[in-house]
Amino acid sequence: LEKAKRPSVIWLSFQECTGCTESLTRSHSPSVESLIFDHISLDYHHTLQAAAGEAAEAAREAAMHENKGKYILVVDGSIPLGDPGYSTIAGISNLEMLKETAKDAAAIVAVGTCAAFGGLPQANPNPTGAVSVSDIIKDKPIINVSGCPPIPTVITGVLAHFLTFGSIPDLDQYNRPKVFYGQSIHDRCYRRPFYDKGKFAETFDDEGAKAGWCLYKLGCKGPMTYNACATAKWNQGTSWPVESGHGCLGCSEPRFWDAGGFYNAL
Ligand code: SF4
Ligand code: SF4
Ligand code: F3S
Repeated sequence: LEKAKRPSVIWLSFQECTGCTESLTRSHSPSVESLIFDHISLDYHHTLQAAAGEAAEAAREAAMHENKGKYILVVDGSIPLGDPGYSTIAGISNLEMLKETAKDAAAIVAVGTCAAFGGLPQANPNPTGAVSVSDIIKDKPIINVSGCPPIPTVITGVLAHFLTFGSIPDLDQYNRPKVFYGQSIHDRCYRRPFYDKGKFAETFDDEGAKAGWCLYKLGCKGPMTYNACATAKWNQGTSWPVESGHGCLGCSEPRFWDAGGFYNAL
């Protein structure tokens, strides 16, 4: 069993900011080291792979060929349709590389709101014509792991589920795993008793804010945002946006950049 081949994972990064990969490296359960060294064969990943240039592309092609129909394709970042030249890797447009690599994948995991829904690059006026993975690939199972970035343990947890059970977890209407995205931030928020009693902070430094009252009137989008931040938390379970005094921006929802996440009226 120790010599059994680890499942191949090819990770493609398109129009993204590397925040999703930064998040991945912060996972503690399972840790990214355990994932890479014990559970998967990460055959292609711009930021984490040792190979560069032609050797890197050769590794991607070899992984696709040797694991045809069995590898997992992970994508972070959106895909520009405005002009193929807006974003290329090794002279190959993101659109072409996505189609080519998705063709023989067992499943696709779209990591981050950019890959899942278009995200930041798609924000008005969307200068590159950015679209999500599911706008292009229609014939493969796609798991959306949204968030800007997603919670580290949610990224590794989704990969671990697929590798352990070999199946797609139950998904919500946006193809996000219900186990992590099945409840709103608001429903799991420890400030909820203040919301229910009508106690709201009116400014970021008033007495209500200091007493930990609800941040709804300061623009918190927790009631319409589905993610696991309130229970899984960030930084190895240390804290999360609302616990550190700032409302949820709704970063795991479609169109959050244009939908009023940043201080616009509710
Ligand atoms: Fe960066 Fe957010 Fe897009 Fe991830 S989802 S690549 S963190 S902008
Ligand atoms: Fe809901 Fe936000 Fe208030 Fe928490 S702080 S109870 S998520 S509105
Ligand atoms: Fe994003 Fe809201 Fe969590 S902004 S990080 S979903 S608390």
